[in-house]
Amino acid sequence: MTSLAALAQERRIIVCCGPGGVGKTSLAAATAVEGARRGRRACVVTIDPARRLADALGLGELTNTPGRIGGDWPGELWALMLDTGSTFDALVRRYAPNPEQAEAILGNRLYRNIAGALSGTQEYMATEKLYELHEEGRFDLIVVDTPPTRNALDFLDAPRRLARFLDNRVFRLVVMPTRAYLKAVSVATQAFLRTVSKVVGSEVISDAVAFFQAFEGMEEGFRDRAREVDGLLHSSSAAFVLVTTARRDAVEEGLFFAGRLRDYGFEVEALVANRLHPRFGAGSGSGSGSGSAGADRERARALAGTPLGPLFANLADFRQVAEREEAHFAALAEQVAPAPVVRVPFLAGDVHDLEGLAELNRSLFPPAD
Ligand SMILES: Nc1ncnc2c1ncn2[C@@H]1O[C@H](COP(=O)(O)OP(=O)(O)OP(=O)(O)O)[C@@H](O)[C@H]1O
Ligand SMILES: [Mg+2]
Repeated sequence: MTSLAALAQERRIIVCCGPGGVGKTSLAAATAVEGARRGRRACVVTIDPARRLADALGLGELTNTPGRIGGDWPGELWALMLDTGSTFDALVRRYAPNPEQAEAILGNRLYRNIAGALSGTQEYMATEKLYELHEEGRFDLIVVDTPPTRNALDFLDAPRRLARFLDNRVFRLVVMPTRAYLKAVSVATQAFLRTVSKVVGSEVISDAVAFFQAFEGMEEGFRDRAREVDGLLHSSSAAFVLVTTARRDAVEEGLFFAGRLRDYGFEVEALVANRLHPRFGAGSGSGSGSGSAGADRERARALAGTPLGPLFANLADFRQVAEREEAHFAALAEQVAPAPVVRVPFLAGDVHDLEGLAELNRSLFPPAD
């Protein structure tokens, strides 16, 4: 079994990350299909898939609840497109001590306007949804796709950041329920708020204060939750797969992502080298000796003028591309060692339907598995 197959077979959560446009969404969907093929109840949590892949996965409409995709496998395949806004609303409803307080928050103008844009909120909601799906126990395997931004991995740190925010002194000051305390700081606070009001308008300030006060008593729930999510991601139930292509810039980004994961205390358990040019027999990657680009180039020269000359020249070109690709990968492979490198060829067509996913799977999970 390749390790990727082992992950699809055994883990509860697989996070696919890497630079933009390298095949993260395709890989996440293909891995969930593999889980279903292995008899598991698999769900892919995706973000902004290509239109046709979304259609193939039955995600024609943006939806925050999993939809089932029928297919020829013993397990189940589900997919959902993450909608962070409605996840946040659901969370507010859960932790509010009563429906009135929930409505006060949900109806707050500030909440409506900026909750989704607050730094870290999007990311936190992604982990929150993940945790919810995990806790429900409906799925044996949840495969998470990540968005095409350099800060895509921020969501991994989101639970900790939220906990830090809740411990923040300014936040505590604003939600602090005791009047005495408010009175004590009122002079300074009032002066501060007056200045801020002049800049952003007093309505914004009263909305903000109302917003934070509405959260009163809910921090504990949020904080515990954040701790649990963090623990889950760091547990052996979760695995991280790094995807990249062989282009030099993508590999450099890959190194950045690998470093980021390490900073957060996560280990890359498989490196997927996607969209590789063909390798012809043994020798590609060695750089010299028979079966190398150099050797083929010499043979092409020796056979110049015969019909075989141009063919060897062509083979030499292909080998050179492959050698270069391997050279680009070397540093990244070393950085994530002992994680295995799973090589996936450049397919003839786009991956935008279940047939395309099946083809991708033939490379990711060879039949011997
Ligand atoms: N092995 C492959 N061979 C050929 N095409 C591929 C392969 N893998 C992915 N693709 C194609 O590459 C494009 C990008 O793939 P995908 O959308 O999965 O990448 P992504 O990393 O999720 O992108 P983004 O970062 O924009 O979300 C798509 O058109 C997909 O069909
Ligand atoms: Mg994508």
